[in-house]
Amino acid sequence: MHKDLQEILISKEELAAGVKSLGERISADYAGRCLTLVGVLKGSVFFMTDLARHITTDVRLDFMMLSSYSGMHSTGVVRILLDLKESIEGSDVLIVEDIVDSGLTMKYMLQNLGTRLPKSLEVCTLLDKPSRRRAQVPIKYSGFTIEDKFVVGYGLDYNGIYRNLPYVGVLRKEVTEGK
Ligand code: IMP
Repeated sequence: MHKDLQEILISKEELAAGVKSLGERISADYAGRCLTLVGVLKGSVFFMTDLARHITTDVRLDFMMLSSYSGMHSTGVVRILLDLKESIEGSDVLIVEDIVDSGLTMKYMLQNLGTRLPKSLEVCTLLDKPSRRRAQVPIKYSGFTIEDKFVVGYGLDYNGIYRNLPYVGVLRKEVTEGK
């Protein structure tokens, strides 16, 4: 375990099993259709590439980068830093997120992508932290529901670090308090 962590919340093996089962559900639901996965950079990259490998129907990958966070606190203001490369009009679209926390980012994504007239628009998140929800968002696929803890690893960061950890863990308080 990384020295800055107090515990591992979801092991590498649990992540692999959870992602595989999400991939199987998505494959069954979208069988025979071409699915556009929209990843939210940078946090969803590890999850999205693993998930895509478990989807048996055709997929396209596209990305958006949004900004609303600085450190551990949401500013509540969402900005598009990088937009999709392709049009999604008439496409089956699945937004792939690392975590839905307050729900503000996802609410913005759903509103914004909804105006582009996709054939269908759904949400897949690796982690769901429902205790902190400020905006109700419909989550069709969720890997793991977690408590109100700030987690890192498997794409999730703290000030840009820890994304490459192969598991999801909770940071020690001293790290987040800067001691
Ligand atoms: P929301 O808008 O509050 O739902 O937050 C969504 C974004 O906040 C996620 O895509 C993450 O980048 C970030 N985030 C929320 N909770 C955590 C956490 O526990 N660890 C790392 N990033 C988080």
